[in-house]
Amino acid sequence: MDKHSRIFVAGHRGLVGSAIMRKLGASGYTNLIVRTHAELDLTNQAAVDRFFTTERPEYVFLAAAMVGGILANDTYPADFIRQNLLIQTHAIDAAYRHNVKKLQFLGSSCVYPKLAPQPIREDALLSSALEPTNEAYAVAKIAGLKMAQAYRRQYGFPAISLMPTNLYGPGDNFDPVTSHVVPALIRKFQEAKQNASPEVTIWGSGRPRREFLHVDDLADAAIFLMLHYDEESIINVGTGEDVTIEELAELIGKVTGYGGRLTFDSSKPDGTPRKLLDVSRLHALGWQARIPLDEGLRNMYEWFMGSV
Ligand SMILES: NC(=O)c1ccc[n+]([C@@H]2O[C@H](COP(=O)([O-])OP(=O)(O)OC[C@H]3O[C@@H](n4cnc5c(N)ncnc54)[C@H](OP(=O)(O)O)[C@@H]3O)[C@@H](O)[C@H]2O)c1
Repeated sequence: MDKHSRIFVAGHRGLVGSAIMRKLGASGYTNLIVRTHAELDLTNQAAVDRFFTTERPEYVFLAAAMVGGILANDTYPADFIRQNLLIQTHAIDAAYRHNVKKLQFLGSSCVYPKLAPQPIREDALLSSALEPTNEAYAVAKIAGLKMAQAYRRQYGFPAISLMPTNLYGPGDNFDPVTSHVVPALIRKFQEAKQNASPEVTIWGSGRPRREFLHVDDLADAAIFLMLHYDEESIINVGTGEDVTIEELAELIGKVTGYGGRLTFDSSKPDGTPRKLLDVSRLHALGWQARIPLDEGLRNMYEWFMGSV
């Protein structure tokens, strides 16, 4: 991939896609091809094929997907499995048939088994049962990972797949129903501060441990891996460090300047008890995350305050 390569960033307005766009732009890549969902629906095979015929991208970052938190996954499993299967099937197949030089597929740490040994190594994929709340999404994503590997094996197509941990950062989804834990908590704390509420109630016990990667770090890793990684095996992308949800909530309380109490609603589902990626393969390639969690949360809060 050189600075003039034709690079298609699918999902360029999303959390991941927009960060990849910022990083590609800042690194001097000038020939970026983008389409909004309304301009190119990746679930429409004929439209995808027309797009690849006319635009002839050389590199593809496949960051378009239907994504959401526990509640959205639990409520719309049919949409999650159908849309993700269609998006990735059409994009990977068209990329192969139109001679794309390399495609990067975005998997996710939440498609590893619910009780995978921690920290989670790449070979834990499909080793035991999935987390039931996002099973439809996970099955679709796993099909995408396997499809990328199958196209490499059968056709020699250079597709690689990343397994990012939980991401956060500017451009995140702050919708009260569909958001992930970091934006949901930032919004909750900010509203509690504005309303001078004496306490904030957090979903679940607060005890699950999670790893969080700033999306600008992920974008940096995505470009690094596009340039330096060309293997069939999926590769984990994370910080290698985790915190409890309670610790995360305390940090967000500080960043937002909320002075009240924290309580936990244990009647709400916790999800997977712990989720920390083993990032030793990524570290061995020479890449490490750089943005500490408190600094990343401050950056995200500033973005949120500027956008409301
Ligand atoms: N967020 C995380 O914590 C996380 C963690 C690990 C892995 N990932 C992976 O990273 C990828 C991107 O996630 P994200 O968080 O950036 O999601 P996001 O913010 O919801 O963005 C998704 C993007 O996909 C586009 N899109 C959705 N359906 C489409 C369709 N049918 N046709 C064309 N475009 C479509 C949307 O386009 P419009 O903006 O035009 O609607 C949007 O730009 C996903 O594969 C996800 O599994 C995310």
